[in-house]
Amino acid sequence: MRKPDIFDEIIQCLKTGEKTGADTSMNEETLRVFFNPIPPKAAARPQAQAAAPAQDIQGVPPAYAPDMPEWESLRTECAACMKCGLGRTRTNMVFADGNPHAELMFIGEGPGADEDATGVPFVGRAGELLSRMIAAMTFDRKTETCIANIVKCRPPGNRNPADDEAAACMPYLKRQIAMVNPKVIVLLGAVPLLYLFNLKGIMRLRGHWLDYNGIPVMPTYHPAFLLRNPPAKKDAWADLQAVMAVFGRKPAPRR
Ligand code: SF4
Ligand code: URA
Repeated sequence: MRKPDIFDEIIQCLKTGEKTGADTSMNEETLRVFFNPIPPKAAARPQAQAAAPAQDIQGVPPAYAPDMPEWESLRTECAACMKCGLGRTRTNMVFADGNPHAELMFIGEGPGADEDATGVPFVGRAGELLSRMIAAMTFDRKTETCIANIVKCRPPGNRNPADDEAAACMPYLKRQIAMVNPKVIVLLGAVPLLYLFNLKGIMRLRGHWLDYNGIPVMPTYHPAFLLRNPPAKKDAWADLQAVMAVFGRKPAPRR
């Protein structure tokens, strides 16, 4: 398995964190090295394309399809959806990534340009950071997580989804959550917090467990926010560690 040097640094840093019982030992510089360096946009795009195989682009079910036919019929239903105005401007409907049998689910806002182009959530720069966060949690993004968004079609110009768009799309996400029935849900940023819980104040509420139909939910910062505000990664990492604890996972050396 590929083992970048950065992981030695992370592991060391996490070991120190274990002793103190928290992440606070991770200084800002370590965090920066940890979640960065995400390549600038020009370099990220080809990667995003490479990360999205042709079958995903066409919305054809990935490997787990045979296990969950209701997941695939919902995907088909969403691909034809025109329930809100975003349907008219999308290139691809962005259904989900990962495994619908996963125990860990992430919910973001909605597709950006890269996601609209590929049909796969979180494949741009923020997606690259999310992938690293997931890897740091010792989870495999494709097989051990399921990633979805509040809206499945791209809001033009990367604006936040409007209330009516979120309301139109939400029944699909709720059906997805019910099918996945994850052990934990992680909300990425203010938008899922608003539309799943009708709550405002991600700064205040992040790190505090919520409950969605009996499923523990951890709100944390959106990776796009973390790209703009690297010092906030310390808090996000604390939130993710609380999630890891539910699974009894500790950051482990990779050999
Ligand atoms: Fe349908 Fe959701 Fe796309 Fe709107 S965003 S058209 S509700 S799938
Ligand atoms: N940001 C999101 O919230 N979702 C995506 O799929 C990509 C970027």
